[in-house]
Amino acid sequence: MFKVPPISAERLPALLRAMPKAELHIHIEGSLEPELIFALAQRNAVALPYASVEALRSAYAFTNLQSFLDIYYAGASVLLHEQDFYDMARAYLVRAAHDNVLHAEIFFDPQTHTARGVAMETVINGLHRACQDARTELGISATLILCFLRHLSEESAFETLEQAQPFLDKIVGVGLDSSEVGHPPEKFARVFARCRELGLRLVAHAGEEGPPAYIWSALDVLKVERIDHGVQAVHDAALMQRLAQDRIALTVCPLSNHKLRVFPDLADHNLGKLLDAGLAATVNSDDPAYFGGYINDNFTQVFAATHLTAKHAYQLAFNSFEASFAGNADKRTWEHKLKETFERCVEHDY
Ligand code: ADE
Ligand code: ZN
Repeated sequence: MFKVPPISAERLPALLRAMPKAELHIHIEGSLEPELIFALAQRNAVALPYASVEALRSAYAFTNLQSFLDIYYAGASVLLHEQDFYDMARAYLVRAAHDNVLHAEIFFDPQTHTARGVAMETVINGLHRACQDARTELGISATLILCFLRHLSEESAFETLEQAQPFLDKIVGVGLDSSEVGHPPEKFARVFARCRELGLRLVAHAGEEGPPAYIWSALDVLKVERIDHGVQAVHDAALMQRLAQDRIALTVCPLSNHKLRVFPDLADHNLGKLLDAGLAATVNSDDPAYFGGYINDNFTQVFAATHLTAKHAYQLAFNSFEASFAGNADKRTWEHKLKETFERCVEHDY
């Protein structure tokens, strides 16, 4: 294992920004900035219930997950054409590249769009084209993960999978998101079993607001490879042991947890506890346009609030590459770049 050199607290924010990283938990609809929402509303002649960008932004005062989701789904209503999906993903990828993200696995919620009459083809082709262009123009690798909305039925999820079948070469896996409590993973056991047969990689949101039992069933019933959020695992010692032993990554989103009041005070966030227990935690942005920051803001703010160290920083970035669905050759290349960045930090090379 790489021996992390001593790095002063002063140098830590620059290191956090400069270090290469993968982002594994970003909802592309959650990257829609108010300015782009208004621009797309005008382009597509969609009426918005807000008078201005400022009025929309001032509505971003959330009390829990559901209070956020209501505004998030309303914001996505401006997306109609393939170019809209391209523009949204492009804007995110430009910001991610700026934050030294080398690889992004991007969630999208097709049911939010197909329910409004937008074709699956429109959604996937726009997002996929942005991923392809990002590789050549921004030097960032990007793949797509289709999420099923858990507040909708199993039947709707199966219908969504059916619609996505012609485009499976453009997605790497499937996930499960939206309102957690009251919608346990078991509801989607059969859909996930089918996705597994189709060779798709599997992830699910669990233990964001919901109990540790939902993390157990995401693992044992859905057979997911990563848990999105998973911060409630600390309430179950046996689960902590299972996650550590099986190296199940948690895609943790500190600013999201703070804004949705999972941790009303960011200083109380349990990221350090998860890492120190040997869990493969990672840092991600979830819905950056709504929660006040992209991936580097998540790193710098949670490190400042909870006094994490350069060792934690290295572990988080390393975990992000290891837990990704990229190939081994890419992982080794990225991990080598990570070590170089830490060594250059000591030499004050940036
Ligand atoms: N969809 C977008 N963001 C989400 C979150 N934080 N939890 C569940 N579903 C989501
Ligand atoms: Zn999420």
